[in-house]
Amino acid sequence: MEWKITCIPGDGIGPEIVAEAKKVLDAVAGKYGHVMHCTDILMGGASIDVHGVPLTKEAVEAAKSADAVLMGSIGGDAATSPWYQLPPNLRPEAGLLAIRKELNLFANLRPAVLYDELVEACPLKTEIAAAGFDMMIMRELTGGLYFGERRTTEENGVKTAVDTLVYNENEIRRIAVKAFEIAKKRRGKVTSVDKANVLDSSRLWRQVVEEVAKEYKEVTLQHMLVDNCAMQLVKDPAQFDVILTENMFGDILSDEASMVTGSIGMLASASLNDTKFGLYEPSHGSAPDIAGKDLANPIATVLSAAMMLRYSFDLDEEADAVERAVKQILKEGYRTSDIMSDGCRLVGCRQMGDLLAKRI
Ligand code: IPM
Ligand code: MG
Repeated sequence: MEWKITCIPGDGIGPEIVAEAKKVLDAVAGKYGHVMHCTDILMGGASIDVHGVPLTKEAVEAAKSADAVLMGSIGGDAATSPWYQLPPNLRPEAGLLAIRKELNLFANLRPAVLYDELVEACPLKTEIAAAGFDMMIMRELTGGLYFGERRTTEENGVKTAVDTLVYNENEIRRIAVKAFEIAKKRRGKVTSVDKANVLDSSRLWRQVVEEVAKEYKEVTLQHMLVDNCAMQLVKDPAQFDVILTENMFGDILSDEASMVTGSIGMLASASLNDTKFGLYEPSHGSAPDIAGKDLANPIATVLSAAMMLRYSFDLDEEADAVERAVKQILKEGYRTSDIMSDGCRLVGCRQMGDLLAKRI
């Protein structure tokens, strides 16, 4: 079959990791007889440098015209990069938030899995790591604090800043339905995370999630407060199957979950709307400190490409092959520096990509 993929290499390590994911996709296309056309667009700092804005209308149109979007990472070092001298709405991150909104990508899936081979890299106590974990964080991606009204004002020399956390019931319902659908195909448990002891938006969240749960008798629903969830993720991560949560809580908890897997360099993500279309990106940032040094771990991006094969193209067998290649390479002892441990073989970003492509 034939697909159109729009690629956003982006900033920092983005171009390096996307190049390796493309190698792996080429290997998949070759082996399974598919044609995948990749077209690059600019976003984030790379777009600011050329167009003065982090995302152009043309780039959005190019993304919309594809079957899926594969992204690296955007942003730079806020302390040194000139991009951060610009007003907030013109900085790199604004491009990412805008494309999510433009493409209506309200459901962000971030799987966090502890690979047997990486148990030594897991910072948790041995007995907790030994139990393993395999969870899916479902983060609402186009509402909440990151998209609510915000402003900074000054009165009598005193500055005040306000951000608004706003959700309507439809926004909550559609992400809850996705979470229950996914839980049905996994271990049948949804943990909905909120701060219902304080926030109105969380109380509405809880109410709507309970309504949705009634349609899914085979799935168990549990509510958990976000502060407790942060604790449970390091105390007993094996208890989680699907974690369903709003935008900011999901942003924070998914970084925490990824770190307990041993490295944020392993965590893939898919951002979906109501169609087969999706944007696929690693959950990590642009790591400007190691950009261009062939040190980045491309696995999160490769696994994001696998999610693209699975969710946007319905190519389960091909997605399995990519995930198997990652496990195989880890089993053979190849490691990038972020997941390196004694007795393993250190490789760079490019060599990791080559090895993965060869194992397809
Ligand atoms: C992420 C990132 C983004 C977010 C930033 C770069 C705007 O942290 O994808 O988790 O907060 O969504
Ligand atoms: Mg984040």
